[in-house]
Amino acid sequence: MNFNDPFTLHTADARGMSTLMPFLGDDAEPLDCTITSPPYWNIKDYGQPDQIGFGQSYDEYLAAMGDVFRELYDHTKSTGSLWMVVDTLRVNAELPGQVARQLPLPFELSSLAAKSGWTLREVVIWKKDRTLPWSSGRRFRNLFEYVLFLVKTDNHKFKVDRLRDFEFREWWLRWPERYNPNGRHPSNVWEIPIPVQGSWRTPTIPHVCPLPEELVKRMVLLSTDPEDVVFDPFAGTGVVLSVANALGRKSAGLDIEPAYAGAFRDRSTASEFRESGSETRAAAVRTMLIQLRALKYPKVMFQRLISSSSHPAPQSILLRVGRIDGETLRDGRSAPVRVDITFAYSDADSIDLGDITESLRALASRPPLSKFGVDASVEASPLESVDDQLLKRRLHVYESGHTWVTSKTVCGVDEIRRLETPVIRRNRYSYPPIISNVKLRIVDTAASPEQSIVP
Ligand SMILES: C[S@@+](CC[C@H](N)C(=O)[O-])C[C@H]1O[C@@H](n2cnc3c(N)ncnc32)[C@H](O)[C@@H]1O
Repeated sequence: MNFNDPFTLHTADARGMSTLMPFLGDDAEPLDCTITSPPYWNIKDYGQPDQIGFGQSYDEYLAAMGDVFRELYDHTKSTGSLWMVVDTLRVNAELPGQVARQLPLPFELSSLAAKSGWTLREVVIWKKDRTLPWSSGRRFRNLFEYVLFLVKTDNHKFKVDRLRDFEFREWWLRWPERYNPNGRHPSNVWEIPIPVQGSWRTPTIPHVCPLPEELVKRMVLLSTDPEDVVFDPFAGTGVVLSVANALGRKSAGLDIEPAYAGAFRDRSTASEFRESGSETRAAAVRTMLIQLRALKYPKVMFQRLISSSSHPAPQSILLRVGRIDGETLRDGRSAPVRVDITFAYSDADSIDLGDITESLRALASRPPLSKFGVDASVEASPLESVDDQLLKRRLHVYESGHTWVTSKTVCGVDEIRRLETPVIRRNRYSYPPIISNVKLRIVDTAASPEQSIVP
């Protein structure tokens, strides 16, 4: 092992990890996270005399793995974790009359790890796109492997927000209130293609079972922070180390095969793997969803008012949307956005505005509006008495209930008055213009939406 450069891939037996640990941190528990794929018992011959798995009896293999789990446990922080990618094994019949069987290696290894103190916390299915070269028989094509997540304490790191799904969906435009602005909670089935043949190998050193970078990236993001120490005791050509480095973590690994250390040095400097702009995109999508909700809110309020009462329709609806800071509450929902809504009547003399305000507030307190994640202050008022501050600005107009495409801008009472208000028929889908400080123009859903908020 090279103790002058501890954060690299060393040629060493996993059971010798203790000698490296003092060089990875100041205390006895330097590891934040271990991400590994151990040898699957006797499946593959890595050609080294001290290799774990190949050539060993199953009991010898388990004893060796038990030693590794114990050492990992002793050197892992209380907030730390252990990810293990492992598959079941097909054990052929050895004697006539015996039945070929599946060995549930993932669960045998997790029970073994539990003897050292590890707790199995999550089981993820890694769904692959294809299998390695395979010939049939009386069995299925194997398209998944297990990913086990083991922890020391309940206080382990698990940053689920970093994996939320923000893929834009067309139906958000009409139903923004149904989608969590913080993205979709990640599931325990991960669909990730296996690396293409030839990646993670040098011309001289083939490696047949590298982990996909995307798989490692998820584990690193979920359970570590920048500068944390990531370790792999069965590092192969070092995918785990390289991805962890690219994400700003410190990483070290061991492998018994000397050729891999050289291969790793080549690859890690060449790695182009980065966490590219996902946080910025998440923030943009979150803001857009909250704006879509805020714009739909007065539309639904209007629909309900007209269909459930005999109140007259306003000439326009003014909507001021407050600051969207993207704050996430503890339960994963976002903090409600503040909005001020005015149902503006241009000819208000003969209208009981107090009565309309009361009806609007009653609607706000009941579903569906109470479920929008919008904290609204609502009133009916003559157009002239709408807040001056708002009317002095250039505002965006949403016509015909299209709350995701602004059609024009207006400034001041006179311009608002000149806007056309369609004839409102009860129980028909016609709407007065909604006039807002939010600009949203989502025309091509494949491109970035044009969005802004007038301060
Ligand atoms: C399933 S592969 C790991 C592949 C790796 N996760 C990757 O993505 O490249 C298992 C690795 O364990 C290594 N190995 C076997 N016995 C070992 C031992 N006693 N100590 C350290 N490494 C060992 C093998 O050389 C092999 O590279």
